[in-house]
Amino acid sequence: MTDTAPVATVERLAQFAGQTVTLRGWIYHKSSKGKLHFVQLRDGTGTVQCVVFKKNVPEELFEAIGASGQESSLSLVGEVVADERAPGGYEIQVRSGEVLQAAEEYPISPKEHGADFLLSRRHLWLRSRRQWAIMRIRDAVVTALRGFFAERDFLCIDSPMFTPNACEGTSTLFEVDYFDRHAFLTQSGQLYAEASAMAFGKVYCFGPTFRAEKSKTRRHLTEFWMLEPEVAFADLNDVMQLAEDMMVYTVGQVLERRRTELEVLERDVSKLEAIQGPFPRITYDEAAKILVEHPESEFKPGDDFGAPDETILSESYDRPLMITHYPVGVKAFYMKRDPEQPDKALCVDVLGTEGVGELIGGSQREDDLDLLLERIQEHDLPKEAFEWYLDLRRYGSVPHGGFGLGLERMVGWIAGVEHVRECIPYPRTIYRIEP
Ligand code: 4AD
Ligand code: MG
Repeated sequence: MTDTAPVATVERLAQFAGQTVTLRGWIYHKSSKGKLHFVQLRDGTGTVQCVVFKKNVPEELFEAIGASGQESSLSLVGEVVADERAPGGYEIQVRSGEVLQAAEEYPISPKEHGADFLLSRRHLWLRSRRQWAIMRIRDAVVTALRGFFAERDFLCIDSPMFTPNACEGTSTLFEVDYFDRHAFLTQSGQLYAEASAMAFGKVYCFGPTFRAEKSKTRRHLTEFWMLEPEVAFADLNDVMQLAEDMMVYTVGQVLERRRTELEVLERDVSKLEAIQGPFPRITYDEAAKILVEHPESEFKPGDDFGAPDETILSESYDRPLMITHYPVGVKAFYMKRDPEQPDKALCVDVLGTEGVGELIGGSQREDDLDLLLERIQEHDLPKEAFEWYLDLRRYGSVPHGGFGLGLERMVGWIAGVEHVRECIPYPRTIYRIEP
């Protein structure tokens, strides 16, 4: 019987209703009452209650399950029975099976643990229900994003991780030995994405990016994933519309595909259902005015917005807020200046709802060779290292733009998870590189 029952997964149990199947997984929780064990079996795709009646199974199996602790691995064969009271709607009436390895004293018990304890055991913590839900939402976000761009004929062209120069300022660069010279880990794939856009039109890159962030906040990682579309013949408005459409689509896909996970996280889905276009759009100057008049803000005109400022600004909206036209002094060298007000950049930051702050940063790029050279000088950047980038303005320069979406911040926002360290499988932060 063990050999013939088809292998099922918890998320696909409905397809096997009434049949006998093999399920393989780990004991998430177990309770025993005399002649009965209730095993919450976790198989990675979900958990299901397996009922092990002493009279229904071989004696050794009943004893072995009785002696197995949390996270013991096992293979069980049983009938898939519909049960309204069961979460997910099914339970398993076990007939046979085997314990593959009996675990003892699993360190993460269902009781509360501190963040540091859990982060040190991230390799095991990933098995818990909350982390399961977050990682599955992350997966759905990635799938949605890739699908969104594929549907719109964007080409995925990835940028390198080792780079000879800085993209987002020199203060957060990780320097590494590169044979007989130095290199940096990339802060953003953008500059290469611009080259790719001139070769392929509409592109995106999606990969890990690195920042030596000294800040220890709930939204900074030293290694995070960024998705960066870059579009030839696009202006700031095109870039903003693309970001809006992408966000609406992605939230919609998570609502469609990850209901159970959102429930596990007790996410208020009405907040997600409200994410529809058009998003409100205001300028930096308008935002500055709101902050200056706000009693709790320490903002000074001309400064960049701090995290508390972003929270104040986004609080009055139930949709993401797009803020444009920041002063050039607080933004990167590659941003195009607004011809109508040259002290402002043609840029946009997108702030999530519920006070989560910046999720996306983007802009139209400086496409004029001489102006770009000026910017490189003003920012004290080594011209030689940017010669290849300047070529893009020498050979068929066109208006273009794009943005970067921080994946972990997007996942945290959608999942309602406060800290980005729970939104990446193995977080790297200023104090942590293990496990
Ligand atoms: O605003 P940033 O720095 O923009 C860029 O890097 C541009 N080159 C992107 C582009 O136009 N192609 O970063 C983009 C996004 C932020 O909005 C934020 O979501 C995320 O990346 N981000 C971080 N996420 C986690 N930890 C950090 N340390 C982050 N720094 C930025
Ligand atoms: Mg930014």
